[in-house]
Amino acid sequence: MRKKIISLTMALVLGLSLTACGDDSGSKDSTSGGKSNATSDQGSSSTVANKDKPLVWFNRQPSNSSTGELDQTALNFNKDTYYVGFDANQGAELQGTMVKDYIEKNIDKIDRNGDGVIGYVLAIGDIGHNDSIARTRGVRKALGTGVEKDGDVNSDPVGTNTDGSSKAVQDGSLEIGGKTYKVRELASQEMKNSAGATWDAATAGNAIGTWSSSFGKEIDVVVSNNDGMGMSMFNAWSKEQKVPTFGYDANNDAVAAIADGYGGTISQHADVQAYLTLRVLRNALDGVDIDTGIGTKDDAGNVLSEDVYVYKEDERSYYALNVAVTADNYNDFTDSTKVYEPVSSQLDAGAHASKKVWLNIYNASDNFLSSTYQPLLQNYDDLLNLEVEYIGGDGQTESNITNRLGNPGQYDAFAINMVKTDNAASYTALLNQ
Ligand code: BGC
Repeated sequence: MRKKIISLTMALVLGLSLTACGDDSGSKDSTSGGKSNATSDQGSSSTVANKDKPLVWFNRQPSNSSTGELDQTALNFNKDTYYVGFDANQGAELQGTMVKDYIEKNIDKIDRNGDGVIGYVLAIGDIGHNDSIARTRGVRKALGTGVEKDGDVNSDPVGTNTDGSSKAVQDGSLEIGGKTYKVRELASQEMKNSAGATWDAATAGNAIGTWSSSFGKEIDVVVSNNDGMGMSMFNAWSKEQKVPTFGYDANNDAVAAIADGYGGTISQHADVQAYLTLRVLRNALDGVDIDTGIGTKDDAGNVLSEDVYVYKEDERSYYALNVAVTADNYNDFTDSTKVYEPVSSQLDAGAHASKKVWLNIYNASDNFLSSTYQPLLQNYDDLLNLEVEYIGGDGQTESNITNRLGNPGQYDAFAINMVKTDNAASYTALLNQ
């Protein structure tokens, strides 16, 4: 395993230096592999047409970024196409409840300036991403700050709302210990950098700087759509100020920070998702029932229980279930890159021959994907006898990634993490050629 990572890293360094001149990514720890032939010597042995090869979308579900409607064409690209993600609504509800519970338990010290208003700020990941939208709604629902728009809670950013005049939210109220407190979303913003990358941690760090310098005393709680942005705000301001900060993903650094006052996070069971992402490809390549090693034990004994995932046939989607991680249980979540024990048995190489998979991470600088998801994938690829080529994108343009899918014929299967959820066709077009 270790040897493989080292040689992969060397290949990546090589690939990077070869492409350095023409590459605009500039992202700090890009795992960009450059041209695929840097690591692929023999190519795929199959004679299957690219359009018929197994395909899994993961982390960003093909969907309309304005309406959220699923892109059924992409999800049904061929008979071996699936999406793997997590249950966004269940997780969002958990995050909202976690924040509310914390406020209730710590009411004696939460209102820092004693004005009877519990003020929070919210870092939004990507206004066109269903998971981000769900998390914004979850927090607003739990705190009573949501207002209705088109039959659901409005998820628009408010900008600054220190005077409570925004139409996208309302002041909520919480009844705690016989007293009524007002809850106000003081500010929220999509954390997108000038180059277009969303869920951007550095942008969130800057935002908390701006917010705290103009109304810092009113901020009692910091909430973020993910830990990357949450930790950036925590490190820049709230840790020092002892303002509880809540994120999502249960990345290692965020879980460790709970000991230093980070309020909590949500595990989206990335250990189950990373397994499912590669497992559905393995099953399709083996030509076995898709449930093998998932709901049904495989020949090595791997199986998942129903409390960690759901499969929705009509959406062709597997969703891992979320768990709240707080001061009460964080010791159980200190290593987010550990394989999930019930699916950690090695497949036999004779019965499950090695296959080549092309897989991309949409943004090599994304904290969750680079520090949690990809290390997990790298642990599972060995167990499942898959030789995966990891391509790291810049998080900005689809072409930065699709340019590196120049020779799909070299691979047996594909795992795709899009930049924008409605751009599935830019990948499938390459497989249709
Ligand atoms: C994660 C975020 C990540 C995003 C990327 C989400 O599921 O929670 O941390 O930035 O995926 O698409």
